[in-house]
Amino acid sequence: MTLKPVRVGICGLGTVGGGTFNVLTRNADDIARRASRPIIVEQVGTRRDNPQCETAGVKVTRDVFEVARNPDVDVLVELIGGYDVARELVMTAIENGKHVVTANKALIAVHGNEIFQAAHEKGVIVAFEAAVAGGIPVIKSLREGLGANRIQWLAGIINGTGNYILTHMRDEGRAFDDVLAEAQALGYAEADPTFDVEGIDAAHKLTILASIAFGVPLQFDRAYTEGISRVTAEDVEQADQLGYIIKHLGISKRTEKGLELRVHPTLIPKERLLASVHGVKNAIAVMGDAVGPTLYYGAGAGAEPTASAVVADLLDVARDITTEHHYRVPYLAFSGIDEADGSLPILPMEDIVTAYYLRLLAVDRPGVLARVATILSEQGISIEAIIQKEATEGELVPIILMTHRTREQYMNQAIRQLESLADIAGPVTRIRVESLDEQE
Ligand code: HSE
Repeated sequence: MTLKPVRVGICGLGTVGGGTFNVLTRNADDIARRASRPIIVEQVGTRRDNPQCETAGVKVTRDVFEVARNPDVDVLVELIGGYDVARELVMTAIENGKHVVTANKALIAVHGNEIFQAAHEKGVIVAFEAAVAGGIPVIKSLREGLGANRIQWLAGIINGTGNYILTHMRDEGRAFDDVLAEAQALGYAEADPTFDVEGIDAAHKLTILASIAFGVPLQFDRAYTEGISRVTAEDVEQADQLGYIIKHLGISKRTEKGLELRVHPTLIPKERLLASVHGVKNAIAVMGDAVGPTLYYGAGAGAEPTASAVVADLLDVARDITTEHHYRVPYLAFSGIDEADGSLPILPMEDIVTAYYLRLLAVDRPGVLARVATILSEQGISIEAIIQKEATEGELVPIILMTHRTREQYMNQAIRQLESLADIAGPVTRIRVESLDEQE
């Protein structure tokens, strides 16, 4: 049985908007068979035409708010990005009784609680698969496929641009700015690429994943965010020699005291599957108590991979449009923000527990290593490995340390004391280390 078409208004015809328009039109027959009804583009709202989209025969407006108020549009697809106009657009669409599909991670991470509340009151769907990890259906997997599990931790490479930069810098010895420019030209980077390299984009996505995995409200402002701009070639090489690779990870872990929510460069053992995720690819490892370890891998950015997720959401809307709101899958997997697990506060960074890689430059004289070891032991930090390199900078020798797991607070104190030693030159480099042990 073929039902009446679902009419879509696409707002934004840039990289993702253009990809969505093209996938929807190119695969219209298969999509209609899957949805049991056609999904048609009723209107496009865009400031600029996209030469890669054949929009002849489709209504095009320069005013996206016209789409949000158009009585012939059932679903508004928000692909304009950013916070403020996007928020107003989505809220206007909801007020007008429209379902919403968005790829906007910043919008969901920062304004999601408010948007879901408004959508719930109106009885409309808000779907956002494309907001996290481009084309990988990780939201659906976490929200529905892993619904039986108590999630223990998740860790992911969730910014394609950052991974693209780290990969090409390591493999080709190219400069940071050069690779970033390439990622921008390929349409992977955010409008403001500091969102990619400083970890803000990854923190938006991690906030969303953690909310769905652990049943807590969206709390972007509690996420710890550290970018890749201070990762040096020397650290990449030292990590390699120690059997590790440096990846920019978003990590969220359930602990007895609360939830860790952090984005930072991380040493991971080379044999982990995440260590083999290169270029613009993303991957998210999720540990559930029943299923054990699972891994979700694919393109994390780009026009059609992201469109793949947008259109999958449109299919869900088309299937659920006649379902009573109460029976639909909850936005964040757990029904009702009020029922979210209040026993899981987001932990301050000082309370997280992890292992560390430290690199320091020391004056080459007797007793320095002993003083370093004493400071660490006074903070209860156990050393796993210590390497003293050949002197490279005058009298100074690099010392590389790997520690066992400890609280960040103790490491902060140790680093402060190490930096105050007369024998230590300059700041101590600290990179967190995760075993991603499947038993943890
Ligand atoms: N700038 C983002 C990235 C795009 O590089 O991953 C996809 O969200």
